Amino acid sequence: MTLPLNNAQRYVPEAINGDFRGKHIVTVEQFAPDDMDSLFKSAARMRTRVQRGDRGLVDLCLGKVMATLFFEASTRTDMSFQAAMLRLGGEVISTSGGVQFSSVYKGENLADTVRAVGCYADVVVLRHPEVRSSYEAAYYLDRLNERLGTHPVVVSGGDGVGEHPTQALLDLFTIADIKGSLDNLKITLVGDLLYGRTVHSLAKLIALHGAVNTTLAFVSPEMLKMPPAVMSFLKSRDIAVYETQQLDEVIGDSDVIYWTRIQEERFPLRADYEAIADQFIVTPATMARASDKAILMHPLPRKHEMGTQADHDVLDADQRSVYFQQMANGMYMRMALLAKVLGAER
Ligand code: NCD
Repeated sequence: MTLPLNNAQRYVPEAINGDFRGKHIVTVEQFAPDDMDSLFKSAARMRTRVQRGDRGLVDLCLGKVMATLFFEASTRTDMSFQAAMLRLGGEVISTSGGVQFSSVYKGENLADTVRAVGCYADVVVLRHPEVRSSYEAAYYLDRLNERLGTHPVVVSGGDGVGEHPTQALLDLFTIADIKGSLDNLKITLVGDLLYGRTVHSLAKLIALHGAVNTTLAFVSPEMLKMPPAVMSFLKSRDIAVYETQQLDEVIGDSDVIYWTRIQEERFPLRADYEAIADQFIVTPATMARASDKAILMHPLPRKHEMGTQADHDVLDADQRSVYFQQMANGMYMRMALLAKVLGAER
């Protein structure tokens, strides 16, 4: 259904550098520690204000319009962005029935679709199967700006097997929020580290935050190891990374255990998926080997990598499982980001 990208490689992401206004959000590489910390503070404030029913929130993005353009399935990302914009007093548009009923169906490419949407909205949230699709959108929205003088921004909601920057922000916010500090943590990412975009962004964001004495462990089957480009980024940021296929080597010491779904839909060969589909399953027995102070995270959706429904029920009741907090924080983080990008908050 989607056509090749044309100019994604020509777009250079802009560092946030303390000012989010009008900036496209396409990769975690745009964020410095201070930018993350100001987002975390803002997300926490948003949470307090929503929980106390603060009606003043709707002044923040009153009169602004957000469009959602989702070329891949989504529940949490799509709906948390929508809810975030509505709670800030903005409006939300999308093509009726999803992109399959847009002109994409007639063969329109991303460059044209995104510029159409950019004529109507102040912010476009894009999820698309091609890596760097949000760069392509940013490039063409900037060209539109040159013609029309308008400033719509794109925020990536996940670009194929590339990145998922807003998920990483909400994940790191959740860790900081629960642990109180990002220093001195052993953070273990487990499962499909090759195709899982959330772990690419999260590992990079942790390295960029530069927390003191915090280390990463990657646990995956050999064929689903973290991609070389992410590994070399981590190396350039000087964070200690340990790779293994044996969870038992690291689980007892881990402060954060971030589990992921094997990305079945991304495998070129079905047989490769089937060969590892039943490895790396977290059950209550697995968590019995983790520390009492560890937290279990998951970006969701989950399938059998968290065992059976009975296993889900036990894990969900475990105080160490924080994936519901992650889900809830997703909306607060996206409120913070939208308010900053749209210039409603500094
Ligand atoms: C993730 C994604 O889409 O990358 N989901 C999400 O946004 N919370 C993870 C996944 O699909 O496994």
